[in-house]
Amino acid sequence: KNKKKIMCGIIGIASNKPVSINIINSLKKLEYRGYDSAGLATLTDDSINEKKCSGRVEELEKILFKAPSNGNIGIGHVRWATHGVPNIINAHPHSSEQVSVVHNGIIENSDEIKRELVSKGLKFKSQTDTEVITLLITEALKENEPLKSVYKTLKKLKGSFALGIIFKNFSNIIIGARRGSPLAVGYSKEENYIGSDSYALKSMTNKISYLDDGELCVLTKDQISFYDESLKKINKKIHTMSESETAIDKGEYKHFMLKEIYEQPITIKNCISEYVDSLKKNINIINFPIEPNNINKIVLVGCGTAYNSCLTAKYWFEELTTIDVEIDIASEFRYRKLKFNSKNLYIFVSQSGETADTAAALDLCKKNNVKTCSIVNVIESTIARNSDWVLPIHAGTEIGVASTKAFLGQLTVLYILCLKLAIVRKDIDERTYVKNINNLKKLPEAIKECINIESNVQLMAKEFLSAKGSMFLGRGSSFPIALEGALKLKELSYLHAEGYPAGEMKHGPLALIEEGLPVIILAPKDKYFEKTLSNMQEVIARGGKILFITDNKKDSLNENIRFGLRVPHLDNLLSPILLTLPLQMLAYHVALLKNCDVDKPRNLAKSVTVE
Ligand code: M6R
Repeated sequence: KNKKKIMCGIIGIASNKPVSINIINSLKKLEYRGYDSAGLATLTDDSINEKKCSGRVEELEKILFKAPSNGNIGIGHVRWATHGVPNIINAHPHSSEQVSVVHNGIIENSDEIKRELVSKGLKFKSQTDTEVITLLITEALKENEPLKSVYKTLKKLKGSFALGIIFKNFSNIIIGARRGSPLAVGYSKEENYIGSDSYALKSMTNKISYLDDGELCVLTKDQISFYDESLKKINKKIHTMSESETAIDKGEYKHFMLKEIYEQPITIKNCISEYVDSLKKNINIINFPIEPNNINKIVLVGCGTAYNSCLTAKYWFEELTTIDVEIDIASEFRYRKLKFNSKNLYIFVSQSGETADTAAALDLCKKNNVKTCSIVNVIESTIARNSDWVLPIHAGTEIGVASTKAFLGQLTVLYILCLKLAIVRKDIDERTYVKNINNLKKLPEAIKECINIESNVQLMAKEFLSAKGSMFLGRGSSFPIALEGALKLKELSYLHAEGYPAGEMKHGPLALIEEGLPVIILAPKDKYFEKTLSNMQEVIARGGKILFITDNKKDSLNENIRFGLRVPHLDNLLSPILLTLPLQMLAYHVALLKNCDVDKPRNLAKSVTVE
């Protein structure tokens, strides 16, 4: 059974001029959501004109260059397949003679509907779940006008979707619909848009509305009408995006990832200034959903890099507060048999705010009537909108699939939240609070210093090229950073890497160490320092090639260490943030040396909107 599950980007433009070039430009921006195949459909001379390709939008652009698509109304799609080979047939749009559909999401009852339609004699061209939507609408159009046809179709669908639909015989409209997958709607003069996110629409408009679940919209070039789930006409709020929200480009940098690494002193400075009142030496976090003294436990949930930030924060909460902390990976949390407690604060960490597992974990909490907080970069996201309380990380749009500035932003906000809870609950005294705030304010400069060691990191990167694998080791709050360093290296350079607590090596993984295996040792001068050095000796004794990263001012390097890097020291609490920088750059440079696609690593996508 070749069922396709997709996590994709969609775009639709209704205009008074040809739309294919703008569709291509928007699809390029949506490639962070998927880049396995791409396609568009426009309406020309009363017929649907479809162009598709497997691979990147660049390929689609080449096809259009040879055979341009006219048409003032069109829809486009980029796809990320989790099952089956992504090919032209399964690429979107999926069209019949009457209707063309782009879809982001999963139709869970597609097999059932398919059987029904096949028994009526209808034929399917692809193996996708989306094609059932195309055929259902086509059938409904025999007796209904477009909006009613879409509405009736949606009633039959189980699962999640954001849809863009055009119609051969109603050549001035695009219909958009949302259930579970995000859909933004944009307004401009003589042109209107739908898109999976506001970023895809940024170069065309800064006026955006968001469909909520169950809602539909009908666009023409000069009008947008919205409908609720019972097809009653509704009004939507229009959000005007600021200039900083709309400006995105690589500038002088070779890759978005490098730009995002270099932006971190600024993004962290912005983040700190959003939360810290420098004059009063206080943190402006108010309106806690639970009175801080009544918080029984904090439960932190995220995926991938966001999970690593939760794990780091656990060490901070334990060090600075008396609150009990639990952490979980969202895809595990959502299926566990949990004991929900109204005195627990459930915090969801996500750059995109659209990660399906994290969003589902949040929904589970809502169903169980507990208080939720989200720490997100995209404040218009599903997770932000669905949580009781939002703490944005203010990192600006992150394009590189490998998360860098968002990770540091998540850590910074979690640290700030921890400090605030600690002082409000009187778990720390005023002097410690002010000292920690003062150190925090030095963080952007210290991050800048870390970035300056890039040339040393470049040298270190060469050590990974011929290696079979690598290990990243740390203790205490350096352990999650070891995990993050290994995750970055894996995702960018396709080399095997393991992150481990250094003290755990002798319980198994030490068997992996052999002559020349690169082992990164994270050894800040904290209470674990001496112990980490002993663990390092165990690795040296077995032939591991040591790459040592520390903030220790005294020379702890010796002839057994192949490479040493020193990051600045502010205080032990902030060392995980500073240790991250060389690891981000290391992964970047290994990927460059291996000629990997840095901004779009294979098999991945920026926003993981499927389970
Ligand atoms: O958007 P989110 O923060 O929810 O995404 C979670 C993970 O998919 C993400 O952090 C992923 O692990 C990154 N590609 C790692 O660099």
